[in-house]
Amino acid sequence: GADENLRELLLSRIHDVPDYPKPGVMFKDITPLLADAQAFGALTDALVDLCERCDADKVVGLEARGFILAAPVAVRAGVGFVPVRKAGKLPGATLSQAYDLEYGTAEIEIHADALAPGDRVLVIDDVLATGGTAEASLKLIRRAGAEVAGVAVLMELGFLPGRERLEPALEGAPLAAL
Ligand code: PRP
Repeated sequence: GADENLRELLLSRIHDVPDYPKPGVMFKDITPLLADAQAFGALTDALVDLCERCDADKVVGLEARGFILAAPVAVRAGVGFVPVRKAGKLPGATLSQAYDLEYGTAEIEIHADALAPGDRVLVIDDVLATGGTAEASLKLIRRAGAEVAGVAVLMELGFLPGRERLEPALEGAPLAAL
């Protein structure tokens, strides 16, 4: 069906790069997808559809590839775009959230006034791997007073327990992996 065709198109435009950024890691390169107007357009259409179905009125993109995917969705769906950035990049007052990586910790931030109570937010990113980044972003959105309408990613790495890690933080909101 249509979903299977989309999946095949997207998969054909995501290239596996072995041993990047370090030995043993298979990097998923989405630049061929972004460079293909039909594939990027079909991805955007599918994300806009998800945005409308979960009744979101804000789109949050996660740095950096999430920005690229989320911005056209916000424009096409007619809702605002809000960036979640790595620590130290946003100029205004921020809320920050630390989370665990395989080795060490990371920190992401959102502008404290970017969301308002009652806002319904769709989070968009390219990859759900361990789920740490997405989980921290949901905490930020709730701390900012908004509601999580859903999470949408281009791909989830099925050999990692990202979905399981994210599940409690979703509090019933849908997680879609295209
Ligand atoms: C990657 C990816 C997700 C995150 C997923 O971002 O784009 O945001 O990691 O990993 P997780 O599920 O284990 O948290 P990265 O930190 O490489 O940032 P970049 O997009 O700025 O390169």
